Amino acid sequence: MERTLVIIKPEAVAKKLVGKIISIYEDNRLEIIHAHRVLATKEVLEKHYEAHKGKDFFDGLVQFMSSSEVVVLILEGENVVDIVREINGATNPQKALPGTIRYMFGETIEANAVHGSESVEAAENEIAIWRDLIRFES
Ligand code: PPS
Repeated sequence: MERTLVIIKPEAVAKKLVGKIISIYEDNRLEIIHAHRVLATKEVLEKHYEAHKGKDFFDGLVQFMSSSEVVVLILEGENVVDIVREINGATNPQKALPGTIRYMFGETIEANAVHGSESVEAAENEIAIWRDLIRFES
């Protein structure tokens, strides 16, 4: 079964948006098979964002994502990677469509409320990376 990894970002957790965001995924009939609140380590984040290493925002993004706790979700279901990306909306909240999570709750291109895996391959890679920090079955 296809899986994806969502991270509810630090500013959204601090603003107590966790319940609202989880409800949006569940209202779309998606299955949350794991949820874990954690302070991410720079080591895990540097692996998670490895594809962006060398970009000018990389260090700031790792710093931001480790600044306070995040909530890591694993969702499972048919076509879940693309469905979650659609629900999340465009990376830049200013370009996100009304009704998407980033439109409603995103502040900036960095503090954009949620991360969602880009592809099935990226999702499995990210789940393996976060396994170092969060414990889950299967
Ligand atoms: S890219 O390089 O434009 O394809 O990046 P993208 O896939 O859209 O975004 C990847 C993650 O990088 C964050 N990002 C930024 N952070 C700070 N400043 C700038 N300019 C910036 N551009 C992209 C963005 O929030 C994405 O984080 P995740 O956690 O994947 O949503």
